Amino acid sequence: MYSHKHTQALQEQTRLWLMVDKGFPDLKAIEPLRDVLRFHEYRYYVLNEPLIADGEYDRLYKLLEKSEALDPSLITPNSPTQRVAKGLTSTFQTVQHLVPMLSLENSYEATDLLDWDRKARELSGEKTIEYCVEPKFDGASISLLYDQDLFVRGATRGDGVEGEDITVNLRQIRSLPLSAPFSQVGIRQMEIRGEVLMSKAHFRAYNQRLAEQNLPPLANPRNAASGTLRLKDAAEAGKRNLEAFFYHVSFLTLEPGTQTPSRLYTHAESLAWLWEMGFRSPTQEKRVFLGIQAVIDYCLAFEATRDELPYEIDGMVVKVNSVTLQEKLGMTTHHPRWAIAFKFKARQGTSILRQVEFQVGRTGSITPVAKIDPVSIGGVTVSSVSMHNEEFICEKDLRLKDTVLVERAGDVIPYIVKSLAELRTGQEEAILFPSHCPACRTPLVKPAEEAVWRCPSPACPAQVLEGILHFASKDAMDIRGLGEANIRRFHEAGWLTDIPSLYALPYPEMESLEGLGVRSVQNLREAIEKSKQQPLHRLINALGIRYVGETTAKGLARAVPHLLELKDYSIEQLQQIEDVGTKVADSIFRFFHDTNNLQMLEKLEHCGLQLHGQSLPPSDGSLRGKSFLFTGTLQKMKRSAAEAIVEAQGGQLLAGVSSKLNYLVVGEEAGSKLEKARKIPSIHIIDEDTFLQMVGQPG
Ligand code: IVH
Repeated sequence: MYSHKHTQALQEQTRLWLMVDKGFPDLKAIEPLRDVLRFHEYRYYVLNEPLIADGEYDRLYKLLEKSEALDPSLITPNSPTQRVAKGLTSTFQTVQHLVPMLSLENSYEATDLLDWDRKARELSGEKTIEYCVEPKFDGASISLLYDQDLFVRGATRGDGVEGEDITVNLRQIRSLPLSAPFSQVGIRQMEIRGEVLMSKAHFRAYNQRLAEQNLPPLANPRNAASGTLRLKDAAEAGKRNLEAFFYHVSFLTLEPGTQTPSRLYTHAESLAWLWEMGFRSPTQEKRVFLGIQAVIDYCLAFEATRDELPYEIDGMVVKVNSVTLQEKLGMTTHHPRWAIAFKFKARQGTSILRQVEFQVGRTGSITPVAKIDPVSIGGVTVSSVSMHNEEFICEKDLRLKDTVLVERAGDVIPYIVKSLAELRTGQEEAILFPSHCPACRTPLVKPAEEAVWRCPSPACPAQVLEGILHFASKDAMDIRGLGEANIRRFHEAGWLTDIPSLYALPYPEMESLEGLGVRSVQNLREAIEKSKQQPLHRLINALGIRYVGETTAKGLARAVPHLLELKDYSIEQLQQIEDVGTKVADSIFRFFHDTNNLQMLEKLEHCGLQLHGQSLPPSDGSLRGKSFLFTGTLQKMKRSAAEAIVEAQGGQLLAGVSSKLNYLVVGEEAGSKLEKARKIPSIHIIDEDTFLQMVGQPG
């Protein structure tokens, strides 16, 4: 899209604009300023390689806003400011696709692909066919229309013939170009197909937010993406960080006297061309092969790496590469004959719901958990599935002895999609919610504004136990060696009665417990001692204050020099803190006005825990847009601390080596990840010192 020379020129312009900052720019130069901003949007959202800091981008954006406000007649529909949503959508208009959005034929086995290839060869008369293979994105399909270089309309698939006009929401997707230079090659109108996705990381964060509000999670990123596209509040849609990939040019009209660009003669070239026009397309992942066998090999190899991708895919799509041949093969009413989906192993399975266990959470919430006959889903045996709350059971009309469809999307927790009512025999029984706490028999309560039943007793042993489990967990105080089994044993032995009791354990007595020798007790003691040094945001998260997760905890830790100062904050003052809304402020306020909690904090401080804040770098720090993975043993800090720095500075942590990775930080005795990264030239392999320099904390 941008040549090296062009990039340098735009970067030079960026510097000049950054100098204008304070004054008003020359309004005649407003379009070059927009070009500069579009260029940086592209670097950030499409390439994932920003060339300026976020703060610098924001300054230029504000400058553009200011300039456009001076003379609104200068605003163009593809101005970067025009992504901002205004008001709510009442209904989405129905629109007709220029070309019907067909679906794809599915295949599951190598033999299906062999059969399909044979038929395609017979039909076309070709001896061997060239195929292009790419991932099958598991999201919501969309169709975009560009007219005279401008994005004018975007629609859902709908029934394939008509969809819903969701242009306002699609404009929020920052990697989706509001304009593209199609006219340069004589194209007047163009319809492009693609898929909108929510990355696994954003999905997890989104579900986490739902959980913090006691709302049931969504089953998978696909539902999250399609739900977001239909939101009536486009500004809210914009906050959910959707992404889009484009994989098909479905229609174009040309200016008189021009011909279809030759780049569109093959599918693989079309993908590369789309990329150059500014669209994210699977150019890196796609491969072209002659004959079907290599296609099969690639599909199977790709399936093995499926979990390393930052987003979900549910298979591969095999397409005849030559567009002439595609046209020759044509389509049925349902799908093109020139393409087929190769579906990966299903991540759904069916099983029988046998019984329901009611678990007490650390805030007293009662969660019904379905015990199902063990079923293997995507290689993992599932026998327990959360049903979240009573409403979930009622809405899905789940009953004992029902056959249920269970999904386990990627690294997401298992989810009951539905019960298969048509398989009912009449023996099914209603699921009855308990009236008393299963742990302490206190009558349960259901606050009017909530979907969950709760045990209101703070002394409830199940809540105390859950609170301690959370406190010691990896994302909280990260006390190694103090796993669930040990916590349960110490709780049963009466040693763990509340959080501070963790710091007064009778170590000598422990040595006599089965499986806990002198050595492991010593290790445990060291781990517990070490946890006293954990930074304040970890301690805040560990306290399990309702609605306060990792992000809010970081905001709170940045806001106060000492945790106990929060007891003097009013609700209004709390709301001034990053990430704290009304509900969260209310919860924090109540926590710090409960004398038991204050006493607990004083005891913890007395035990030597850190209640003083440490100024964390701002959350929009310098690593934004960069992804990291650590391998081997770091010498100067714990891996978790290094990971925390990446997150605190806005970087992304990846779970595995893939082409999406920017930096592999290598410690001692690094293994297979290093080997794998060496094969991907775009990955920067750096040592711990270089990493520390990057994050401004040299050795
Ligand atoms: S090609 C005529 N390519 O899968 C072109 N579709 O199950 C048809 N999908 O409706 C689409 N990734 O929403 C194509 N790389 C890809 C795809 C892809 C995901 C979706 C698309 C389609 C559905 C069919």
